[in-house]
Amino acid sequence: MQDRFGRTISYLRVSVTDRCNLRCRYCMPEGGVALLSHDDILSLEEIYDVVCAAVDKGVTKVRLTGGEPLVRRGIVDLVKMIAGIDGIRDFGLTTNGILLEDYAAALAAVGLDRINVSIDTLNPLRFKNMTRGGDIDKVFAGIDAAEKAGLLPIKLNCVVGEFSNKEDAASVKAFGAERGFEVRTIRMMDFKSGSFSVVEGGSGGDCQNCNRLRLSSDGEIRPCLFSDKSFGVRELGAEKAIEEAVLLKPESGGPCKHNWMHGIGG
Ligand code: 5AD
Ligand code: SF4
Repeated sequence: MQDRFGRTISYLRVSVTDRCNLRCRYCMPEGGVALLSHDDILSLEEIYDVVCAAVDKGVTKVRLTGGEPLVRRGIVDLVKMIAGIDGIRDFGLTTNGILLEDYAAALAAVGLDRINVSIDTLNPLRFKNMTRGGDIDKVFAGIDAAEKAGLLPIKLNCVVGEFSNKEDAASVKAFGAERGFEVRTIRMMDFKSGSFSVVEGGSGGDCQNCNRLRLSSDGEIRPCLFSDKSFGVRELGAEKAIEEAVLLKPESGGPCKHNWMHGIGG
């Protein structure tokens, strides 16, 4: 699929839930958020159908996100369904790692290629504070399990911004270097002001070369993280929603109304 600006759209990011077992300060308000109701959330079959339609149109790379994707009931079944689609050559999942120890082997067994783990500091107390309660030892155990299961290459996402300091990012970089994991540094984004920048070590935030579409957990195809444009797959059907999103994908991102990352999936 080509958009109006000559960009080839080949990457679909799929948010499978707006729920999360952490409350990172930059992502979720303290009290949590008004969660989507069960009926608004796409079923596993509906998600599968959208991914099939996207792959039919040329998508070759798929990533599952959230919220936290591992809290979605049936996530292993969904991974298995998607892994069976012909034409995907890169199938990943982004997780906070808390449940990864329990899921890594099963995810690898049903065909997931690889894992990205979000970790913004190596300091247990600071991690607990930044995530409002998270246990970093679970994340380390999850990373070990993913490595053992062959979910490689493992990449670490490290958000830097007002809730972190230089040592936090440096510690994650050092950990990555020691263990042979790629580390991508993501500047904290702000939707209201439309501020974002190119992800160091990754491909996000580079509008000219953006190859992405997103599917939100409530069934909206979003052509740009920094735009309020969205196209409902239930209203339009998956094919049409994808076509419209590609047609109207903005040249670059800007300020937008939505305020939080959860449910869009980063
Ligand atoms: N700015 C930058 N990154 C964010 N994430 C969540 N909220 C923000 C934000 N405001 C990141 C998570 C995860 C990825 C999916 O998105 O840390 O790595
Ligand atoms: Fe959960 Fe990820 Fe948001 Fe943290 S950044 S609250 S782990 S969805």
